[in-house]
Amino acid sequence: MSDASDELSQMRENYTAGAFRRSDLRHCPLEQFSEWMKEVQSAEIIEPNACTLATSSIAGSPSTRSVLLKGIENGYFLFFTNFGSRKARELKENPQAVMHFPWWGMQRQATVEGLVDRLDEDSAEEYFHSRPLESRLGAWASRQSEVIDSRESLENAFEEVAERFGENPPKPSFWGGFRLKPETLEFWQGRTGRLHDRFRYSRTTENEWKIERLSP
Ligand SMILES: Cc1cc2nc3c(=O)[nH]c(=O)nc-3n(C[C@H](O)[C@H](O)[C@H](O)COP(=O)(O)O)c2cc1C
Repeated sequence: MSDASDELSQMRENYTAGAFRRSDLRHCPLEQFSEWMKEVQSAEIIEPNACTLATSSIAGSPSTRSVLLKGIENGYFLFFTNFGSRKARELKENPQAVMHFPWWGMQRQATVEGLVDRLDEDSAEEYFHSRPLESRLGAWASRQSEVIDSRESLENAFEEVAERFGENPPKPSFWGGFRLKPETLEFWQGRTGRLHDRFRYSRTTENEWKIERLSP
């Protein structure tokens, strides 16, 4: 094996941050998620609301990328993107998705699985107009996930939309929000000896939550 492989095989972290017990669990997984999110924020973990969003084509080939969780409303997890992007195209043909929150700095992760649909336009408008001007113009300039010939053409597109819309760009029709309705949420806390604590909440047919401990 190469030096890099030797180093990789020796890399390991001992998870000693603490236990996560059944008695620590909130009855509602959304409250549990919010509690962990607050703790992650307090720990000053970078981009606490960034997660990996996994989607899949109808043929079953998966893809992942980071997105920012921008709210939890009425039990839905919200994120925003370009409707022409690969993720949006895949969600249109297959609404099943996973959001994985990699809070490694706290020896934790949370995984949220469910079905995704589009957020209503009014809420997307509201969020769009809360963004900094550069981000709003950037949404217009980017044909997200498409091949472009150069950085220059992207910057030219940005200049054009800046000239066209000035200080007040409207929300592009090709940009907006999605919302994931959680069916399962898993909370993972690293422990010593790889005997990690894992709890999974699953939505029941009565719209309640079943809680199970999973083997690490
Ligand atoms: C920390 C972080 C946060 C991101 N947040 C978003 C986001 O909220 N929405 C988005 O469309 N892209 C976001 N991106 C860019 C995506 O990861 C990705 O490159 C882009 O959405 C295109 O993905 P796709 O081609 O798989 O659709 C983010 C990237 C990083 C690193």
